[in-house]
Amino acid sequence: MAFNLFGRIKPLDAILATAEKKALTRSLGPVQLTLLGVGAVIGTGIFVLTSEAAQKAGPGMMWSFVIAGLVCAVAALCYSELASMVPVSGSAYTYTYAVMGELLAWMVGWALILEYAVAASAVSVGWSGYFVGLLANAGIHLPTALTIGGYAPGGLINLPALIIALLVTFLLMIGTSESAKVNAVLVAIKVAALTMFIVLTLPMMQGQNFDPFMPNGWFGESRGFGAVGAAASIFFAYVGFDAVSTAAEETKNPQRNVPIGLLGSLAICTVFYLLVAAGAIGTVGAQPIVDAAGHVLAPGSTAFAAQCQALLTAGHEPLVCSHEALAFVLRNIGYPAFGNMIGIAAFLALPSVILIMLFGQTRIFFVMARDGLLPEKLATIHPKWKTPHIVTAITGVAVSVFAAFLPVGQLADISNSGTLFAFLMVAVAVLILRRTDPGRHRPFRTPLVWIVAPLAIVGCLGLFYNLPFEAKMVLPIWGGIGLLLYFAYGYRKSHVGRGHIEVHESDADAPPQPVPPISDS
Ligand code: ALA
Repeated sequence: MAFNLFGRIKPLDAILATAEKKALTRSLGPVQLTLLGVGAVIGTGIFVLTSEAAQKAGPGMMWSFVIAGLVCAVAALCYSELASMVPVSGSAYTYTYAVMGELLAWMVGWALILEYAVAASAVSVGWSGYFVGLLANAGIHLPTALTIGGYAPGGLINLPALIIALLVTFLLMIGTSESAKVNAVLVAIKVAALTMFIVLTLPMMQGQNFDPFMPNGWFGESRGFGAVGAAASIFFAYVGFDAVSTAAEETKNPQRNVPIGLLGSLAICTVFYLLVAAGAIGTVGAQPIVDAAGHVLAPGSTAFAAQCQALLTAGHEPLVCSHEALAFVLRNIGYPAFGNMIGIAAFLALPSVILIMLFGQTRIFFVMARDGLLPEKLATIHPKWKTPHIVTAITGVAVSVFAAFLPVGQLADISNSGTLFAFLMVAVAVLILRRTDPGRHRPFRTPLVWIVAPLAIVGCLGLFYNLPFEAKMVLPIWGGIGLLLYFAYGYRKSHVGRGHIEVHESDADAPPQPVPPISDS
C-alpha cells in the first residue's frame, strides 16, 4: 500500500519487471560512474557563473560553493537509495510515479523539463561567451548585436548560443551518443584546464583580495544576494550528478558503486570549485559592482550590463563583468596563452554538457509520452536514426530560442528552481517508501535517512527561497501550465488511468542508444 493523491500509482513491481526484462549487462565500475558524473557536472557553472557568484557574494562565494555542495550531497544520498532500488529510466519522475502517484509524477516530470532543457540553454550561452572571447583574442570581433541577447545594451540575439544548441540537437537527432572514451577524454580536458588554472593562480594570491570577505553578508539586501543567494545560483555548477543514478541499472554492485559515483563526483567537483574560486578571488579580486546609490546590481540586468560597459570604456573590466571568467583571470595575471587554452577547453567540453542535458530531457519526455501523459506521437522513433526525433527537435528548438535571448545566470536560476523541486520530491519519496514498503530489498540504503532526507528537503526549500524572485515565480507558473495540460490531456489518456500497467520489453529503455558515456567502456 502506498500513499497517493488520486489512486494512480504505477506499481513498483511492474516497474521492476520492466527493468528485469531489459537485463542490461552490469558493466560499470566506480571509476566509470565517477567519470560519468564529473562529465555531466563540470561546465558553465564553474567556467562562467563564477563571475555571477562573485557579483552576488564577493569572496564569500566560497561559502556558496560549500552550501550548494552540501545540499547536493544529501540529495545524492537519497537519489542513491531510489536509483539502486528502482533502476529504470525516468529518474525522479519514475520514482514519484511509484511512490506518490501520477499527478505528482507528472509535476516532477514537468519540473525536470525546466532542469534539463533550461540547463541546456544556459550551457549554450556559457559556451558562446568563451567562443566569442576566443575569436576576439584572435582579432575577430563579432558585432555585439549578434553575440548577446537584447537585455544588454547593443545586444539583440546570441547567435553562437543559438547555433551550438541547434547543432547539438541535430547530432542527437541523427543518433549521436557520447561514448565512454569520448567522455573520458572530455573529462580529462576539463580537469586538466582547471588544474592548470589552480597551479597558475594559487601562488599569485594576495590576502587583501579576500577583504572584505562578505561584502553582501549571508543574505544581501534583497533576495538572491549574499553568500546564500549566490549558493542558490551556483547550485547549477553541481547539477547533472543525477546522470549517475540513471546508470544504476548498468552498474556492478550498485549498493557500493552508485553512492561512490554520486558522492565521488560531487566531492571531486567541490574540491576543484573551491580551489578555482580561491585562485580567481585571490588574484584579480571578486568585489561586486554597485550603482550610484551604492546598491549591488543584479547580474544579467540591463543596469548591470550598462555599468560593465561604462567600466570597460574607462579601461577597467572587473571579474564580475566577464563572460569567460576563468580565461579572463589568466589573461589578467599575465598568462594570455593559458587564458586561450582554458577558452579552448571550454569550447571543446561544454557542448558535451549540452548533449547530456538535452539527452536527459528527451528521455524524460519519451518516458512520459510512453505512459500516455503526453501525445504518443512525440515518442515516435525515426526508422533510420532510431531516435525519438520529433521530441528531440521540439526540445532543441525551444532550448535554442531561450539560449538566443536570455542571460546565462537567469537561465541557470530557472533551471535550478526545477531541479530543486525534483530533488525535494526524491527526498520525500525515500521517506514515504521507507514507511509504506519497509520490507522491500534496498541495494543501497541512505544512511541516517531520517536525518539526511529531512536535511535535503530543508536544503532544497532554503535554496529555492533564496533564488531571485523571477526565477522563483517561473516554477509555480510553469507548474500551473503543467496542471492545466495534465487535466486537459494526461488525466484522460494516461495508460495507468485506463488500467494498462505496461511492462515494456525490448523498448523499455528507448530511445535505443545507451545513456551517453557507457557504450564502449
Ligand atoms: N553543472 C553543469 C554546468 O555547470 C550543468 O554546466
